[in-house]
Amino acid sequence: MNETLSMPVPEIRPYDLSLSNHDRAVIKSQHPRCLWLTGLSGAGKSTLANALELQLNRHGLHTFLLDGDNLRNGLCRDLGMSAKCRRENIRRVAEVARLMVDAGLIVIVAAISPFRAERDAARRLFAEGDFIEVYVSTPFAVCAQRDPKGLYQAARQGRIKDFTGIDSPYEAPLTAECEIDTQVLQLEDACRRLSQFLLNK
Ligand code: ADX
Repeated sequence: MNETLSMPVPEIRPYDLSLSNHDRAVIKSQHPRCLWLTGLSGAGKSTLANALELQLNRHGLHTFLLDGDNLRNGLCRDLGMSAKCRRENIRRVAEVARLMVDAGLIVIVAAISPFRAERDAARRLFAEGDFIEVYVSTPFAVCAQRDPKGLYQAARQGRIKDFTGIDSPYEAPLTAECEIDTQVLQLEDACRRLSQFLLNK
C-alpha cells in the first residue's frame, strides 16, 4: 500500500449546509472573529491571549484559545519545528480557527507562526475584517533574557535546533492590525487594548 497521509482526493466536494455562519452567530449575540497573535517564543503571546480570553469570557463572550504549545500536544503532535512542519502546523491551526469562527466563536490564536505566507494564507480563510493580526513585537533580546522555558539557552548550546530567531527565521508582519510590545505595555493595558479593538470593530 503506497497511500500517504498527504494524498488529496479531488472528487470530494463540499456539502452545502442549510444553516449559515450568520445563523450560528446570531444566537450568541456576538461577531465571531479570529485574533491571531504572532511573535517570538517568550514574547508573551500565551500570557496575553490567556488574560484576554478571561476578560472576554467575563464580558459574556464565547471564546476559544488555540495555543501553539497546547495544540502541539494533540492535533499537531506529529509535527516538528522544520519550516515544512511549521507551515503544516499553521495551516491546521488556521483551519481549526476558521471552523470555530464558522461555529460562532471569538477565536484567539497564540502561535509563533513565523512565516508571512502562512499568516497571509490564514487571513484568506476569513471574511474581510474578521482576521485581526496582532504582532507581539517584544524584541529578541528581551525574549532571550526572559527565557521562561530555558529554550533559548538550549538553542544556544545546540541542544535544540530550528529555534526561532536563532537558526530558524521569524518574518515580522508588515501589515498587522495591531502591535504590542509587552516590554512597553503592561499586561492589563495590552489586554484592554485588544479587547476594545475586538469589541469596537
Ligand atoms: S510555530 O512556529 O509552528 O507557530 P508554535 O507556536 O506552534 O510554533 O510552537 C512553539 C512552541 O514550541 C514555543 O512556545 C516553544 O515552547 C516550543 N518550542 C520547542 N522547540 C522550539 C523551536 N525549535 N523553536 C521555537 N519554539 C520551540
